[in-house]
Amino acid sequence: MPDLSVNLAGLRLANPTLTCSGTCGYAFEYADFMDLSRLGAFVTKSITREERAGNEPARIVETRAGMLNAIGLANVGLERFLNEKVPLLRQMPCPVIVNVAGHSFDDYVETCGAMEGLDCVAGVELNVSCPNVKDGLTFGTHPGRLKELTAQVKKVLPSKPLIVKLSPNVEDVTVTARATVEGGADALSLVNTFTAMAIDIHKRRPRLANVTGGLSGPAIKPIAIHMVSRVYRAVAKSAGVPIVGMGGVQVWQDAVEFMLAGATAVAVGTALFVDPASPNKICDGLAAYMKKQGVEKLSDLVGSLELPGDQPKTSPYP
Ligand SMILES: Cc1cc2nc3c(=O)[nH]c(=O)nc-3n(C[C@H](O)[C@H](O)[C@H](O)COP(=O)(O)O)c2cc1C
Repeated sequence: MPDLSVNLAGLRLANPTLTCSGTCGYAFEYADFMDLSRLGAFVTKSITREERAGNEPARIVETRAGMLNAIGLANVGLERFLNEKVPLLRQMPCPVIVNVAGHSFDDYVETCGAMEGLDCVAGVELNVSCPNVKDGLTFGTHPGRLKELTAQVKKVLPSKPLIVKLSPNVEDVTVTARATVEGGADALSLVNTFTAMAIDIHKRRPRLANVTGGLSGPAIKPIAIHMVSRVYRAVAKSAGVPIVGMGGVQVWQDAVEFMLAGATAVAVGTALFVDPASPNKICDGLAAYMKKQGVEKLSDLVGSLELPGDQPKTSPYP
């Protein structure tokens, strides 16, 4: 069996498959449908300081090549997370990464600070695709604010890897990636969902009660691959910061694509609604691919994509 283990900012993962935040709750809801012990790591639903009911329905609609969601960060809040979910997470057979969201600097700092002392939490992922209550501007689209947020959170989380999850809803994702690395992020994850809309033509109304939502699934995969490739080459490779690639990963071939583009690990989200065991199947496919290609370590694949400009010119003509 080839060695599928990867090193994610100091976290030794048995394989590179993670779950995408928000697509499989707090873990045990999925215990009957996938082998949790075969995940590289489990990533929780976003936790906020206060409990949130989320948006009104309809908050999920299917689209032709993916899904649109406007869940609105429905979650149990920090206190109930600590009391109700952490005892269960202590029994998880794989590392647990807690995804944290907030609407102010203080929100993020308090919730992430609470994770520092929990031995069952291997790392924290920051969901920065949330508007700030003070001015309504999204944290993840402002490089200066993102750098400051990353730095403040890293201060209260000195012993655990901090993964910052980038929003694709920006003009140039390498600018926000650079800002988070300068702020002290240990790893990057990308991408979150793309702001989008679907219309019920019979009612002439938006299909989501929230009007807009986040698009995920196969429809976004090629854009996500492009973003991972750009961030890897422009920022992450030289900074030595690993990337978790996500956006439409369904099968092992998608995982290989993300790794060739520069991802050290991959996360599976929307595909879990179709096949909850897909991360386990992706591992089997990766092992077979490595054998066939004679790849000994998965890390040898990371960023090994060859672009035309990388190759020496073979043409005899100048
Ligand atoms: C129903 C649903 C809920 C989501 N909730 C969260 C969330 O709470 N926090 C977060 O950071 N991302 C959330 N996401 C985004 C996913 O984690 C992921 O970044 C995105 O869906 C792209 O991956 P995919 O195409 O494999 O689903 C959610 C996505 C979906 C489909």
